[in-house]
Amino acid sequence: MRRKLVAGNWKMNGLTASLAEVEALIAAHPAPGCEVLLCPPATLISAMAARAAGRIAVGGQDCHMAAAGAHTGDISAAMLRDAGASHVILGHSERRADHAETNAMVRAKAEAALSEGLVALICVGETEAERDAGETLAVIGRQLAESTPDAATGANTVIAYEPVWAIGTGRTPTLEQIAEVHDFLRAELAARFGAEGAAFRLLYGGSVKPGNAKEIFATSNVDGALVGGASLKAADFGAIIAALAG
Ligand code: 13P
Repeated sequence: MRRKLVAGNWKMNGLTASLAEVEALIAAHPAPGCEVLLCPPATLISAMAARAAGRIAVGGQDCHMAAAGAHTGDISAAMLRDAGASHVILGHSERRADHAETNAMVRAKAEAALSEGLVALICVGETEAERDAGETLAVIGRQLAESTPDAATGANTVIAYEPVWAIGTGRTPTLEQIAEVHDFLRAELAARFGAEGAAFRLLYGGSVKPGNAKEIFATSNVDGALVGGASLKAADFGAIIAALAG
């Protein structure tokens, strides 16, 4: 059985004062029937990990592919781990767009993450133009194949399907569209990794809210969610966790 996972991506949001939300979240959900992960900006990882004290997991939002070196402003997988992170989001569409990250770069970053013992959350997803052109599965298949390292397993890698047009827009695919992509991802993973393909958690992300979480979680091959805006407020994120755990 795949353990359910709810992950929050704070993106470029959060100052020290925001850590009060973490306390509220943990207090409201001391023992959820699922894994909970929060990925704050790098500046807050250490403080959040100290507060979480293992009750929820803490992750980064990106790492460099190199172990160390002359890369001003970048953060290595070892640094994330040292700060208290156990996971890292890689290949988010905002990084693919803002920083021109390619599938090959995402794969190299994922290899760096795995070699440091971090769990990699690799993001894939089509743009609206790609969906309109009927290219959704082709795009996602290519992203998955080229961004996922050969060393990936269900234990060290999570795949997040985030349609670009659903991120921060309040729009979501139909449940049939989510199921189509998640079933496709499962089949692709099985084709490449054999029986291990069944062990990867597949998260849906893009405008997940307390009001739509339950039906999304009941969809085929959805093992949890990657939540942006709604992860910034303990009440909303807690309600999403409750929808999965309950
Ligand atoms: P929203 O939940 O704000 O749509 O963001 C989704 C996302 O990009 C999470 O990584």
